[in-house]
Amino acid sequence: MMFTAQVSSTVLLAASAVSAGTVLWDGRFNDYASSADLDKWSFSNPVGEYQYYIHGKGETAEYVNLSADFKNPGDSASKQGVKISLTDTAFWNGDAMRRTELIPQTKAAINKGKVYYHFSMKRSETNAPSVNREHQIAFFESHFTEMKAGWISGAQGDSDPALRWFADSKSQWDTPWEAGVWHNVAYEIDFDASTVGFWHSTGSDALKQTVAPVKASTSSNGADWHLGVLELARSGFTDANEDIFFSGVYIESGDLTTAIGSGSAAGSADTPPPAAKPVASSSAVIAPAPTTLATSTKAPSTTSAPSATSTKAPSTTLATSIEAPSTSVAAQPTLSATTTAARPTATRKCRKRKARTVQQVAA
Ligand SMILES: *[C@@H]1O[C@H](CO)[C@@H](O)[C@H](O)[C@H]1NC(C)=O
Repeated sequence: MMFTAQVSSTVLLAASAVSAGTVLWDGRFNDYASSADLDKWSFSNPVGEYQYYIHGKGETAEYVNLSADFKNPGDSASKQGVKISLTDTAFWNGDAMRRTELIPQTKAAINKGKVYYHFSMKRSETNAPSVNREHQIAFFESHFTEMKAGWISGAQGDSDPALRWFADSKSQWDTPWEAGVWHNVAYEIDFDASTVGFWHSTGSDALKQTVAPVKASTSSNGADWHLGVLELARSGFTDANEDIFFSGVYIESGDLTTAIGSGSAAGSADTPPPAAKPVASSSAVIAPAPTTLATSTKAPSTTSAPSATSTKAPSTTLATSIEAPSTSVAAQPTLSATTTAARPTATRKCRKRKARTVQQVAA
């Protein structure tokens, strides 16, 4: 009957509507004509969805390239995906590590309450990330949660083919990182409860909670989640070109969207699209003072190396925060994670994050 059919479809619509949360920030590149649009962004002209300052000195397309070929084909909400590359020039700020990273440009509350950080990631056979070196992927400044791939500093042996999810400085989940497989991820972050859970699927499958929330030192200034990759240098291993592909990047609050390629595809409303005309700096009366990212003073410190199971503290880092970071305990390696297994005697250098003399960018 007509009436019944109508009721059914209404019920279905209502059901699908409640299963989606609110998109706080949309990083799906749907408004970007090409990665050159990232060049329109600066601290004093914060247009578009991404901050782009952690990269080498070459052309943007050498490190960040957009194409429909680079997205998870199961994701119809994204027009294109991004290829993030490490090349022989991918050194940022005089550091020895190769880095190509994008950071959400938003004033939305992506660092408060309970939020879901969505992204899909893939590697190819071509330009595969080295299995001999540590890659920190889609990480926060304090490394309370991140993906990792490759041999992890301090581990036994020479190589590691796994893709891992880290939280609380421990490997909580891993899988062989095979070429051509799209891994869909959502970090379930509760900034109030200080927990992080892990949702995962492959291809076009719906996300499933793969690791229930674990305690972690959740903290973020709202501009320190790094979509992209940082690769630690390792002596004896040369730099080859490496690519990692991402798509379906967005941050959501409320109810988790588990379907891939779902979630509202609308651009986030809080920043103009990259096509917006850049404000001439001379007329930007209220523009904040130029930001200076001081070169970090790396005071090497020694820390016990972790066990071969990679239950190690995050290394690095990072000094990428645009606000002077509080000297966060979470940024430092902690020994607690390494006490459960026999430790190799080797020590490794860790970079101590120094408070930066960085001017506040916020207007
Ligand atoms: C960027 O990707 C496009 C589309 O695949 C390709 O034609 C172009 O050569 C790429 N550019 C670089 C610098 O890799």
